[in-house]
Amino acid sequence: MLIRSPKDWELPESAVTAEQIYRLRNRRDFLKSVGVGLAGAAFAPQALLAATAGFPSKENPAYPASALKPTAYEYITSYNNFYEFGTDKSEPKEYANKGWKTDPWTIEVFGLVNKPAKFDVNDLVGKLGGIEQRVYRHRCVEAWSMVIPWDGFPLAKLVALADPKPEAKFLLFTSFVDPKNAIGQRQGNLDYPYIEGLRLDEATNELAFIATGIYGKPIPNQNGAPLRLVTPWKYGFKGIKSIVKIEFTAKMPQNTWKVMNGREYGFYANVNPLVDHPRWSQASERIIGGGVFGGGRQATLMFNGYEKQVASLYKGLDLERNY
Ligand code: MTE
Repeated sequence: MLIRSPKDWELPESAVTAEQIYRLRNRRDFLKSVGVGLAGAAFAPQALLAATAGFPSKENPAYPASALKPTAYEYITSYNNFYEFGTDKSEPKEYANKGWKTDPWTIEVFGLVNKPAKFDVNDLVGKLGGIEQRVYRHRCVEAWSMVIPWDGFPLAKLVALADPKPEAKFLLFTSFVDPKNAIGQRQGNLDYPYIEGLRLDEATNELAFIATGIYGKPIPNQNGAPLRLVTPWKYGFKGIKSIVKIEFTAKMPQNTWKVMNGREYGFYANVNPLVDHPRWSQASERIIGGGVFGGGRQATLMFNGYEKQVASLYKGLDLERNY
């Protein structure tokens, strides 16, 4: 991955507001923007809620904001990797909001499943019983990290809806192609579409999540609207944005960064402080936008702190070779 120097990351201190204030303000602003007061939220007309089904969401008490200090909204939404809209961290916010439409949006689920289907995003959220909020750590392979309050649904629910056949062992996720609106696709900075994969047992792990929002608001385009994979025990590049297709397969699929540079990026991409990237250490990480210790660095944790939930998935696997 192209590594940018920290000077890309320049936001005034005033841009950082306490998480609680954000949450209240954002929820209020959002509800105002769709034309409803707090009390009226449940009765908002469907037409106003395009691509926003399920909001406001409820916190899942297993992943509360009180356990980790979330990074401020401004940082999460303006320091991004989304090569379709440029390789500089500041570019996705600008270029993903210039004519690229993420509403309406359809996702297709197919392959080795009993119930292949195409879903409108809002219909899908309704079918899956709504959304919830989870605060997760987010660790990029470039050795920086954030804490993000995601809204969305467990990937396991979508897998259950598709009803995989016994031969299905993997999921292949594909992002959109729209060179007219995606400057990075015109530049050809990666092979497109961006693709990613998971083993089926990883996809049904309780942590695997599809995000539709951040901080109680619909997910901004630059973070992967309207549907984006979140696997917090893996490096951020596994978190494919703006998914249009999920195929269930028997064979391990390719993934974009492995195709681009297989020596440096693998299929698993599990966060592991003991296995360095060929060009830098993964033992610690730069905290974006302050964090618990007021900025600076912190030690990286095995499986990004989610060892209890996921270590059993990799029993017997050589984590150094399967990087
Ligand atoms: N998804 C697509 N479609 N295109 C991308 O370039 N970048 C990945 C991942 N998902 C990427 C993508 C990388 S390298 C990271 S670290 C995360 O998105 C960044 O997510 P964030 O910008 O929300 O922090």
